[in-house]
Amino acid sequence: MRIADFKIEEWMNKYSEAAEFDLTTTCISPLSINELPFSKEIFDVKLGYGDIEGSLRLKTAIKSLYCNQDVENITVTHGAIGANQLVFLSLLEKGDEVVSIVPTYQQHYSIPEALGCNVKLYFLEEKNNWLPDLEKLEQILTSKTKLLCINSPNNPTGSVIPDNMLDEIVKIAQRKNVWILSDEVYRGLNLTGNPYSKSVADIYEKGISVGSMSKTYSLPGLRVGWIAGRLDLINEINHQRQYNTISVSALDDYFAAIALENRDFIAARNFEIMQKGVCILKEWLKQNPRFSCVLPSGGTTVLLKYNYDMPSREFCRNLQKRSGVALLPGETMEMEGYVRLGYCADNLKQALEKISEY
Ligand SMILES: Cc1ncc(COP(=O)(O)O)c(C=O)c1O
Repeated sequence: MRIADFKIEEWMNKYSEAAEFDLTTTCISPLSINELPFSKEIFDVKLGYGDIEGSLRLKTAIKSLYCNQDVENITVTHGAIGANQLVFLSLLEKGDEVVSIVPTYQQHYSIPEALGCNVKLYFLEEKNNWLPDLEKLEQILTSKTKLLCINSPNNPTGSVIPDNMLDEIVKIAQRKNVWILSDEVYRGLNLTGNPYSKSVADIYEKGISVGSMSKTYSLPGLRVGWIAGRLDLINEINHQRQYNTISVSALDDYFAAIALENRDFIAARNFEIMQKGVCILKEWLKQNPRFSCVLPSGGTTVLLKYNYDMPSREFCRNLQKRSGVALLPGETMEMEGYVRLGYCADNLKQALEKISEY
């Protein structure tokens, strides 16, 4: 299968690690094993394949994140990246029409394209606070559309689809008989109100929710994600899954269950980091009028507009060479003229000062 270059991953692999200050990150400072309340039982975990579709303990913990799911409606995957891919492989065939709301994680359009689908991109606009215009969205979905891909809280804009707007999106999808794949890896990271927005799997019979330990739970190294959805779809996904997953590591499964069972302390820690990051960002924006952004409602990133006549790749390369700060060029997300900034990054304040100096 030929597939487009995964532009953000390529950029980050090349430049982020070498940066003195990495603001390309979407993760909130990862937790160490020491910070998890594990017990001596860890030494009894058998390092076999384990429970193939995820342990009952882990699936029970995942189920508690939803209002309307059962353990049978959930399957455990290699991160959200594995989850998204399995959804596409299970649902789509050559010629199917897919609508993807962008900017988003590139999987949401490049995998359907590689499968031979007819992919239509619906671009969010800054003037709408990076939220969809429902009339326009309704127009772009046709009777041929099979799948709509959404991502909220959104990477990279930090926008959060309000629950009542999600209800409207579901109504539109219902009218057009369209599946919704909702990438909810940042669910639980709303800055105001309930940190957890509604999940599409809970409110729509053709809603598929993807989650992961990487962002909300600060454990990207576990490589654990999941899919929640209708039983017949989960059965089909499990059929595909046998070809590319078998199981996740027994250790990952164990630590993920512990983290979800004790998620309150992770949430409190992350909320503090997010709040602090927003305050630092706000102050910096006041003093640096050549940059602007819609402040985040959730998630871990913002899309920063820069007022320089320079393509975003060039801007980011020059910035990193001269100041040691890595940002992600908007071009890698089909958003030229912008850069993505991870406002939960360590050393945010010093990194922003370096940008000002530059
Ligand atoms: C929207 C979105 N979906 C999926 C992923 C992949 O996450 P995971 O680490 O769980 O595979 C990312 C990673 O940045 C993401 O931002």
